[in-house]
Amino acid sequence: MKQRISSIPVSRLLRGILLTLAVAFFLSTALSTAWMQAPATAQEETGKAELRKLCVGCHELEKAYSIKQDRDGWQRTMEKMVAFGMKSSEADYKTVLDFLVKNYAADEVPKVKVNKATAIELESGLSLKRSQAKAVIEYRTKNGPFKSIADLKKVPGIEAEKIEAGKDRLSFEE
Ligand code: HEC
Repeated sequence: MKQRISSIPVSRLLRGILLTLAVAFFLSTALSTAWMQAPATAQEETGKAELRKLCVGCHELEKAYSIKQDRDGWQRTMEKMVAFGMKSSEADYKTVLDFLVKNYAADEVPKVKVNKATAIELESGLSLKRSQAKAVIEYRTKNGPFKSIADLKKVPGIEAEKIEAGKDRLSFEE
């Protein structure tokens, strides 16, 4: 035995060790990346096991949470998967649905609170110019909170079209 080992040239032995290290490194990197992509924070844990159970059979697990949508959307997706042949107990179905709704929710466009917003928020939220955002704040400081879209349109220099374009996202909360 001893003799056979010593008969292997050192360079080959080294190459073998290097290769092993490279493979080990590759595997650990690949595994940790895969883990990081999976939902992993503690609060997300409930439902993760059920998600794996229900959703790995037909496609990669990643596909199951590749989209973001609201509860109706996830309900429809789940029903579609059932139609494709997904088997599930009622309890697992509900757990997974709740998990998806909670962790893969549609991105909500935040409201622009015109009576609280900073100049920057007004600029980005309503695509205002810096001077217009400043004018809104000046007007607000001078005249008190805006009550309606009509109020907002009174701000000197403001373009009514920009206010109209953002009207669904405006909040007049004080
Ligand atoms: C019985 C097989 C099966 C199971 C189990 C399954 N799916 Fe699917 N899923 C499919 C098929 C078939 C498609 C469409 C073809 C494709 O994209 O691979 C799909 C596609 C999707 C898509 C892509 C968007 C779409 O609507 O086509 C999402 C999202 C999805 N599945 C989510 C899930 C979730 C979440 C689960 C677990 C709750 C799940 N799937 C379990 C069969 C299945």
